[in-house]
Amino acid sequence: MIDEFRAATLDRRMWQHMPGREAAAAAWNRTGLWSEIGRLAIEMAAREPLLRHMLDETVLSRETPAEVVGAALSRRLGSHRNHDAALEALVIETLHEDPAVLPSLEADLVAVTTHDPACRSSLHALLHLKGFHALQAHRVAHSLWQRGRLDVAHWLSSQASAGLGVDIHPAVPIGKGVMLDHATGIVIGETAVVEDDVSILQDVTLGATGKERGDRHPKVRRGAMLGAGAKILGNIEIGCMSKVGAGSVVVRAVPPHCTVAGVPARVVRTRGRIAAGTAAGPCDET
Ligand SMILES: CC(C)(COP(=O)(O)OP(=O)(O)OC[C@H]1O[C@@H](n2cnc3c(N)ncnc32)[C@H](O)[C@@H]1OP(=O)(O)O)[C@@H](O)C(=O)NCCC(=O)NCCS
Repeated sequence: MIDEFRAATLDRRMWQHMPGREAAAAAWNRTGLWSEIGRLAIEMAAREPLLRHMLDETVLSRETPAEVVGAALSRRLGSHRNHDAALEALVIETLHEDPAVLPSLEADLVAVTTHDPACRSSLHALLHLKGFHALQAHRVAHSLWQRGRLDVAHWLSSQASAGLGVDIHPAVPIGKGVMLDHATGIVIGETAVVEDDVSILQDVTLGATGKERGDRHPKVRRGAMLGAGAKILGNIEIGCMSKVGAGSVVVRAVPPHCTVAGVPARVVRTRGRIAAGTAAGPCDET
């Protein structure tokens, strides 16, 4: 994938000096997420001259996906020129040092373009979606945290919190293919876990009850959906593929494959049927 991106760089540079974009766009039209992003950037630059400088800085002049991500995040989070450069360098360095980060980011891009009807393309997510930026800032902070760079991890996490209104402790492991939709007001505490393919809407809290110490935050299992404004409190599980209704307050474990709603939340649906009090079975069954 990175080789494809590098191969496409020449084409992008050619495009910058070309009166027409057709040939360059065709050369970019290779398979792969990053080639697609490059192709979309070329098309957008041709359509919207106002955005050319931004597209050039963020995508078209970049050599690798890591550089694209570094540029996108530093544009979003940096507060002045030197700061931007440091942030960009930190992101690029982390993506090079930790090979797990980029595949998770790519899965997040696929998730958001697949699940968010308002997301027009992977380029749209990369350039504009705050939840995507917050999640990638967290992925970098978490990688730094795991490798003992606690101070810079906290610094990056506080940049994301101040700039994007998304407060995720850098210790939190987050699986791949995750979507933070709208994202403003999301708070995720230190000992929470978020598994693969989870969707979290704005204003969700994964918090402690205030009565426990140590391992005190929720564990959100694979494929769960947490509706806008849901408050999930304590070291409880949200079972795989389960849904939490908007505005719910959840203080008890939620079994897999069911829907809970209300304050306090109650089961309103299990395995696609209106709840009759039966707990759902193990996650692997469907
Ligand atoms: C819970 C939810 C996922 C729907 O699940 P569902 O299985 O289709 O549930 P239904 O719509 O059939 O409702 C089942 C019951 O739960 C109730 N209910 C549904 N959502 C609820 C909510 N958020 N809060 C309280 N009760 C809710 C319904 O009124 C119904 O109650 P009843 O059986 O007494 O009539 C959905 O309502 C929801 O909250 N989604 C979150 C979406 C969101 O956050 N959007 C913001 C986008 S910006």
